Amino acid sequence: MKAITLDSHGGPEVLRLEEVPDPGPSPEQLLVRVRAAGVNRADILQRQGSYPPPPGESDILGLELSGEVIGAGSSAQGFAPGDRVFALVGGGAYGERAVIDHRMAMRVPEGWTFAQAASVPESFFTAQENLFTLGDLREGETVLIHAVGSGVGTAAVQMARAAGTRVLVTAGSTEKIRKALELGAEAGCSYKERDFAGWVSEKTGGEGVDLVFDFIGAKYWERNLRSLRKTGRLLLVGLLGGAKVEVDLGVLLRRRLKVFGSVLRSRPLEEKIEITRRFSERCLPLLASGVLRPVIDRVLPLAEAAEAHRIIEANANFGKIVLEVPP
Ligand SMILES: NC(=O)c1ccc[n+]([C@@H]2O[C@H](COP(=O)([O-])OP(=O)(O)OC[C@H]3O[C@@H](n4cnc5c(N)ncnc54)[C@H](OP(=O)(O)O)[C@@H]3O)[C@@H](O)[C@H]2O)c1
Repeated sequence: MKAITLDSHGGPEVLRLEEVPDPGPSPEQLLVRVRAAGVNRADILQRQGSYPPPPGESDILGLELSGEVIGAGSSAQGFAPGDRVFALVGGGAYGERAVIDHRMAMRVPEGWTFAQAASVPESFFTAQENLFTLGDLREGETVLIHAVGSGVGTAAVQMARAAGTRVLVTAGSTEKIRKALELGAEAGCSYKERDFAGWVSEKTGGEGVDLVFDFIGAKYWERNLRSLRKTGRLLLVGLLGGAKVEVDLGVLLRRRLKVFGSVLRSRPLEEKIEITRRFSERCLPLLASGVLRPVIDRVLPLAEAAEAHRIIEANANFGKIVLEVPP
């Protein structure tokens, strides 16, 4: 099969479409003809050499895919050849064929394109698990979502709104804020124009928000804590603005704050199966009925993976970029 490979770690130019051996399904896996793969920030970190695949996973890039079932291992159940499926995977989506555990395979909703399906798992799983499973976000609460134009941000703003919360957002441009308002955000702060912590204080009458959903890390740490109300929760899932901070632990004590960190990719298979089950119950029906929608910035052919990475590294996308694999 053809797949995007890396000769070495480096810039987008190291990505090449080349012939590689087909993957073979283990007893629990389905073999899928990939029709689309979502592109994530994590793919860029893997390409650069700072985010290796977990042991046992394909070293081909790509954490989410959709396609047609073309084979199955001896214990894989519930799907037949030709079924349209999509799933989170530990790697291997940037190729013409890939394997997925049958317990993580989901049926593509009626009327959806493969590109729509492939754009969903990584961002919606991450938003769901953080906002609700870890963050226990409740109706009537106020949440601050950073980098709202990211794949994860565009999922989170819709899910938080659908749960009956008040959603404040930040992004690097007024254009991204405008689009986030269309997705259900109440108000947004362009972080290049003003300090978001002061803005949050104004918007909440000096109270602060119940929950901050953050991908930026060190650069926002102190302002994130200032933006929280007493007993507020900080969800940290990305470190785009650095990993090292000097901490005044007294702030956490005095204001009784909680800080949660999480990653999706390196979780054990059993946990990922549970996450898929929670998503199928809670979120997929809302996506299938159109209450939530995948936000796709653009769709490119698989051969243009390098261009997809350049766009993401330039922070030029609003929502997901998807790579399409010709049938
Ligand atoms: N822990 C997990 O389980 C998990 C799972 C999935 C993703 N993630 C993380 O979630 C984040 C979003 O992923 P994604 O693939 O959805 O991202 P994405 O589509 O690439 O978007 C990221 C956005 O973040 C903003 N940004 C980048 N660097 C920044 C900085 N230094 N300061 C402020 N804003 C910055 C940019 O928008 P602006 O124009 O607004 O600057 C950029 O478009 C990443 O950090 C990723 O690693 C974590």
